[in-house]
Amino acid sequence: MFIQRGVGNMEAHLRNNRRSEVVILLVLIVSLAATLSPSSASPIAVATGEKVELSLYYEALCPYCEFFILNYLYKIFDNGLISIVDLKLSPYGNAKIRSNGTVVCQHGEWECVLNTVEACAIHAWPVVSDHFPFIYCVEGLTYEEKYDEWESCFAKLNLDPKPVTDCINSGYGHELALQYADEINALKPPHTYVPWVVVDGQPLYDDYPDFVSFICKAYKGSNVPQICLELSLPTTTPNYGAKPSNHVGYKEEDNAKSKSMLPEIVSAEAAESM
Ligand SMILES: *[C@@H]1O[C@H](CO)[C@@H](O)[C@H](O)[C@H]1NC(C)=O
Repeated sequence: MFIQRGVGNMEAHLRNNRRSEVVILLVLIVSLAATLSPSSASPIAVATGEKVELSLYYEALCPYCEFFILNYLYKIFDNGLISIVDLKLSPYGNAKIRSNGTVVCQHGEWECVLNTVEACAIHAWPVVSDHFPFIYCVEGLTYEEKYDEWESCFAKLNLDPKPVTDCINSGYGHELALQYADEINALKPPHTYVPWVVVDGQPLYDDYPDFVSFICKAYKGSNVPQICLELSLPTTTPNYGAKPSNHVGYKEEDNAKSKSMLPEIVSAEAAESM
């Protein structure tokens, strides 16, 4: 079971992350150099089991989701955290499937369209460092309410539109939406709003803006990125150990845009049970 999971992870890494090859090589070298751990499992299994799974369940046009992607999540590609993270994006959120199989979205038709666009982008470019810039671009446009300009992201990022437009026009995008629906609806514990951030299977609830420290805590490997070392240093900065102060700025800035202040709640009952 454990071995199968390790092999599965390894395959996913080889497929999904070019950097994993470098990481595996480094770990191999380090492991060969260190003769101190003769009883450890194979270096490759250790290396691939190390990454922390970060999943974001979100939907297009949800202000908190846009804000999280545009102001928090993108940083993991700049601060080195991505080297220890297996990031999975799930663009569906609180949409519902009608009895006739069509999808209804909280924010109307544009949300459904753009959820499908983003699902197709993930499908077209499965490596996260390839699809994330496109999704970041689309989310940036929707934040400015330029919903109909999403296709400008192809040229902006020098990407071929064909795999994404084919996915949408063939109806495969709709199939992907149904798959993402199954995925979010199978979550245990279930999601109660979006953005719903999950680290190694554990939802972060309202602490999601602090996801970096959860990832650093969950990471058991030896290639600790600088950002995690900085977080764990005894520090003289006054905010250490406090609730992330940026949460406040987050709300204020959303407020300034006079958009909804609330995460996208699934239902009033679900919200009360939290
Ligand atoms: C599905 O149902 C909705 C509302 O009940 C309706 O507006 C829509 O046209 C239907 N679509 C198809 C493809 O049957």
